[in-house]
Amino acid sequence: MNNSKPFLKWAGGKRQLLPDLISRLPKSITDSKKIENYIEPFIGGGSFFFYLKNNYEIKNAYISDINKDLVLSYRTIQNKLNDLLVELKKLQSKYDLQADLENKQFLFYEIRKEFNKNLAYNLSEVTNTFSVERSAQVIFLNRTCFNGLYRQNKKGEFNVPFGKYLNPTICDEDNLREVNLALQNVVIEHGDFELSETYAVKDSLIYLDPPYRPIKVTSSFTSYAKEDFGDEDQKRLAEYYSRLSKKGCSLILSNSDPKNNNKSDNFFDDLYSKFNITRVSAKRAINSKVEGRGSIFELMITNYRLNE
Ligand SMILES: C[S@@+](CC[C@H](N)C(=O)[O-])C[C@H]1O[C@@H](n2cnc3c(N)ncnc32)[C@H](O)[C@@H]1O
Repeated sequence: MNNSKPFLKWAGGKRQLLPDLISRLPKSITDSKKIENYIEPFIGGGSFFFYLKNNYEIKNAYISDINKDLVLSYRTIQNKLNDLLVELKKLQSKYDLQADLENKQFLFYEIRKEFNKNLAYNLSEVTNTFSVERSAQVIFLNRTCFNGLYRQNKKGEFNVPFGKYLNPTICDEDNLREVNLALQNVVIEHGDFELSETYAVKDSLIYLDPPYRPIKVTSSFTSYAKEDFGDEDQKRLAEYYSRLSKKGCSLILSNSDPKNNNKSDNFFDDLYSKFNITRVSAKRAINSKVEGRGSIFELMITNYRLNE
């Protein structure tokens, strides 16, 4: 057990919804405080994963994501923490030493340019130096960009502007050490969510937090990675959910509620009609421009009855 929290601020991060997720854990798990097999194939910032690691004994864990730079960063913290800390401290003092915001801004765009030069790397062939430098850049950009969000455009370029922070914590050594401990013996994979199927054995706990289905057709939150997650992917995920349920896994899935915008939109109610759908209230930061801000609902779908 440790005291880790997400090392990146991630779009769609679930910190705010943690109480709703926790209250939906299967009773057998809350009673025993043990999880035999945990799987999270849309890991993002990993809020729920780190919470569970801090509070439950997890025997086997598998996490994955389609975002290559994110997976690289998890792996670097897992395997090359000390080198990463050295690199981050260098970036921290470089940023701190810039005389004013204008100079800090110049440094930010220099590092963003460097980062965007190296989009086409192969994750299975990276050198130690590359992993450490790039992961440090990921953390640096996340800590110094506008709103601390990670976002890439269609070409895969990091395109968030400068955040104008005077004294951001770029190297949070204490937390990175906790994250390193939380990641010991965790399988960290890169790719589509369906790759997790081979790890999904009976009684696994699986949390699925896919990219949100945009509230409006025109709502244009740019994707986390180059690939978009459209309605066809949502349908593919629902089929996957049914398959895992048949295997005897315990499943929690969260998503945006299309009824926020259109009461008669039954997209998820139809896709998951065989399962338990509940709605929880949430403030949505990413779609803050959308009307109804503050009174938005999210869906939580389990394949077991709550309190069972
Ligand atoms: C809503 S976010 C997850 C947020 C996470 N629960 C947290 O607390 O930060 C969705 C994640 O799915 C990833 N993703 C998008 N398409 C994917 C796919 N086909 N397979 C696996 N991951 C995917 C994105 O890179 C993003 O990290």
